[in-house]
Amino acid sequence: MDVTINPGTRVAGEAKVPGDKSIAHRWLILASTARGGSELRGLPASLDVRSTARCLAQVAPKARPALEVWAGNASSAVEGRGSTWNPSEPDHHDVMLEVEGEGREGLVLPDGELDCGNSGTSMRLLAGVLAGAPFTSILTGDESLSGRPMERVAEPLRLMGAGVTTTEGRAPMRVHGGGLRGIDYEIPVASAQVKGAILLAAMSADGATTVHEPAPVRDHTERALRGLGCTVETLDGTIVARPCQHDGFATSLPGDPSSAAFVLAAAALTGGEITITDVGLNPSRLHFLEVFARLGIEVRCEVDREELGEPVGSMHLAAIEGLRPVRVEPHEIPLIIDEIPILAAVAAHAPGDSWFLDTGELRIKESDRLAAIATQIRALGGHAAEEGDDLVLAGGGLTGGRGDAVGDHRMAMALTVAALAASTPSTVRGMEAADVSFPGFVAMLSRLGADLEAGS
Ligand code: S3P
Repeated sequence: MDVTINPGTRVAGEAKVPGDKSIAHRWLILASTARGGSELRGLPASLDVRSTARCLAQVAPKARPALEVWAGNASSAVEGRGSTWNPSEPDHHDVMLEVEGEGREGLVLPDGELDCGNSGTSMRLLAGVLAGAPFTSILTGDESLSGRPMERVAEPLRLMGAGVTTTEGRAPMRVHGGGLRGIDYEIPVASAQVKGAILLAAMSADGATTVHEPAPVRDHTERALRGLGCTVETLDGTIVARPCQHDGFATSLPGDPSSAAFVLAAAALTGGEITITDVGLNPSRLHFLEVFARLGIEVRCEVDREELGEPVGSMHLAAIEGLRPVRVEPHEIPLIIDEIPILAAVAAHAPGDSWFLDTGELRIKESDRLAAIATQIRALGGHAAEEGDDLVLAGGGLTGGRGDAVGDHRMAMALTVAALAASTPSTVRGMEAADVSFPGFVAMLSRLGADLEAGS
């Protein structure tokens, strides 16, 4: 499905973005493996999170009825025009899901393959949980996910004692769990999914597990486990986790800061002022705001509460005075891995060259995002190139054109936002990909003032 973007209007006002996708995967897993009932409010209707819910429904019989209803119900809007557009999409912030758990020992052999769809986080985190379960599970995914590396998670789980095989290093992945022991492991790549998988496996291991991360990445797994009373200690990039069985819990999902980044950028590029409320303010997710500041976009954050160890509050952006080009160093990349498409979309409008150095990890995301950003910014009438694993945007703005989401949710949204400030109208193909993380994206931008037209 195409969307046509007519520049010239201002995006401004107040918004709530869908619940945090990263946190939702983790809290759903923890609710389904808790001893007792949990209440999760404000789960995002994102396709990725529904993939996790569907897989959990197959292995957690007591949680199954609730998970199946939630995952199935939320998916209906994807038909036809899709929830990306649908202005009558219900407000998911108030939807509450009650999940019954029987502890990890309540997990059962699934009745078929576990289809993780487009979601690398589902596959890698579930592999961690299933590594502790004494049966064989097969994790599969769509074409994009089937091309993504899985040895990075298989290797540590094998060292812990699970039987894990990949398909030439990729999905499908077979996990035969049970009998885990704690390990001391240096993670070779900065990856929150790998760290999360090991920590989830560590909960059912014999003895403590120590992981060393090469660079800081999001710490949602650690925060949630601690919030549930488990012992997970972090010091200078080393995390020590002790086995633990948690009870049920009740909590509310914070909005996803990575989704907020698109709305903030849309306002900044169109001269608007915007406030985003009920959004996650976990510092390990906010480095993009530091890069925004260097680009000339100042966002003020205010924490007003905590949910299971996660700070939550508001983000406020005043109209900006002008953009500046930016140079993003290699050590910053793991902390902004999901925001590079939108940061690049903004940088394309700065006066002068912007550099994102050493972004090779982008090649193994939902698409080869490094190539996609360069190609699609050019398709929208800008100047961008890959220089090895570095990305350079020549800045100077976009003339407008025809971009393609290449099946990648973050590309769909980054291109749409970039086009809001182009000098002529643009079209983005494959806009429905946004449903993977941000159902209602087009409807929300339209409500805030963007002039977007849905095509066929
Ligand atoms: C995620 C970790 C990151 C990120 C992904 C979500 C998570 O992936 O890109 O969107 O929830 O743990 P990597 O761990 O592969 O860097």
